[in-house]
Amino acid sequence: MTATFDTLAAADPRHARRRAPPKPAPAKALLPAPLAILALRRNVLATWGQPAYELDIVERPFLGRQSILLNDPSGIRHVLVDNHESYGRTAAGIRILEPITGKGLFLSEGAQWKRQRRLMAPAFAPRSLGFVAEASLAETERWLDDLPASRRRAVDLLRAFQGVSLEIACRVLLSQSMDRHGAALRRLITRYGRRHARPSAFDLLLPDDWRSPDDIGRGRFAREWRKLVDGIVAERAARPPADEPADLFDAMRAATAESGDGPDAFGAEELRDQIGTLIVAGHETTALALFWSSYLLATHPEAQDELAGEAAAADLSPERIGKSAPALPVARAVVSEALRLYPPAFSLVREARQPDRLGEVEVQKGALVVIAPWVLHRHRRHWVDPDGFRPERFSPGATPPERFTYLPFGAGPRVCIGAQFALTEAAVVLARLLRDFRLELVGRRPIQPVGVITIYPDRPPPFRLVPRR
Ligand code: HEM
Repeated sequence: MTATFDTLAAADPRHARRRAPPKPAPAKALLPAPLAILALRRNVLATWGQPAYELDIVERPFLGRQSILLNDPSGIRHVLVDNHESYGRTAAGIRILEPITGKGLFLSEGAQWKRQRRLMAPAFAPRSLGFVAEASLAETERWLDDLPASRRRAVDLLRAFQGVSLEIACRVLLSQSMDRHGAALRRLITRYGRRHARPSAFDLLLPDDWRSPDDIGRGRFAREWRKLVDGIVAERAARPPADEPADLFDAMRAATAESGDGPDAFGAEELRDQIGTLIVAGHETTALALFWSSYLLATHPEAQDELAGEAAAADLSPERIGKSAPALPVARAVVSEALRLYPPAFSLVREARQPDRLGEVEVQKGALVVIAPWVLHRHRRHWVDPDGFRPERFSPGATPPERFTYLPFGAGPRVCIGAQFALTEAAVVLARLLRDFRLELVGRRPIQPVGVITIYPDRPPPFRLVPRR
């Protein structure tokens, strides 16, 4: 598909030296149900076999249900765009996510989702991206200034990016530093990921309205989470609205006020759920995108030098960053390629609300339809050198990927509302970091990507930040 780019890339001797980024070996065989559930809990990425990366559609029974993995672009378009109302979130997905996102935009459906999206869209309009760029620059500089030279020899970049991204999200969302609440937020989010986010047999098998034993712990978690977010929202709400919306909170409040406090307005719980959703969705995924970009750059020094060159030539001053951020093509290409190889939202799962047809396959009501960016982005038919790190695929002028083969932010009406926010943030943080430092990995122990809700490394490797001048 990308003939021009591939001809150029094949002729480029630098590619011969590149090491393939880590990935688990494809599953060898279909596992019986109990083992399949264990494997899903451990690492979803290791459960797909080689045919998944070669076929348009893979159909198999899973726990008594039809399960369809979809790689065919026209089928994906059908599910996510043309016929999206026939495909909803799954009961297991809701069970697992609701404690942390509540009835926020991520999980709401039907008329409630439409109303929420309409109220929130203005807050994510392109004009807010200058503010995102400024906050990203300021928080990266604050982190680097606070990092003593002695600690630059072994930095846990995943943890650092989680902190930086959380601060950026909260600044843009609430104009508030998380100096006071950041540690508690991170502690709860980490606990959620470790203890409550892995699907169990009960989650997958019980009818929607039954509680699973895992739901008891999740309920306890939800109470703590809501209390913390309620406190943060109350602090922000105590400040009067600015004349011109200064952050996403103000923008949402303004949209609510425009609805005349009528049936469209956000109630207190709904607002809390939106803020909770945006805090989680708005920083964890971006922090992972930054982590994987950094890992790939540390293992591909020539790409790193190119990005550092771009950063050195750009105006990364606080006054100009809003203008410079859209013009960082190398940083954006690196982030886009990292999102191809390690898409934080590695699998979009839908449940068929009614019978349908996908190509030759009759879809039964209740079937699970899986569109997995992890698989799709490494599919043999859609990509040349699918497992290789080649940021130039996304350079300006390169042939763009075929539609519906590259979906780090999903597609259709439920496409990520924060996609441009995330891309701007990641480009600015990386450019600012690489302008001053070279990234090196400490030690040679390999890491492996693990998929549970998002893709994180099996151990966060330490990085060395070497000053460039
Ligand atoms: C690299 C970073 C990010 C990635 C990879 C990502 C990925 C995604 C994906 C794939 C979806 C669609 C899920 C589906 O269709 O099932 C989604 C939805 C969503 N994302 Fe993001 N996201 C990122 C950053 C952000 C940011 C920065 C925010 C907010 C500040 C955000 C807020 C949301 C929300 C609220 C939804 C639900 C949208 C809806 O259903 O209408 N995300 N994201």
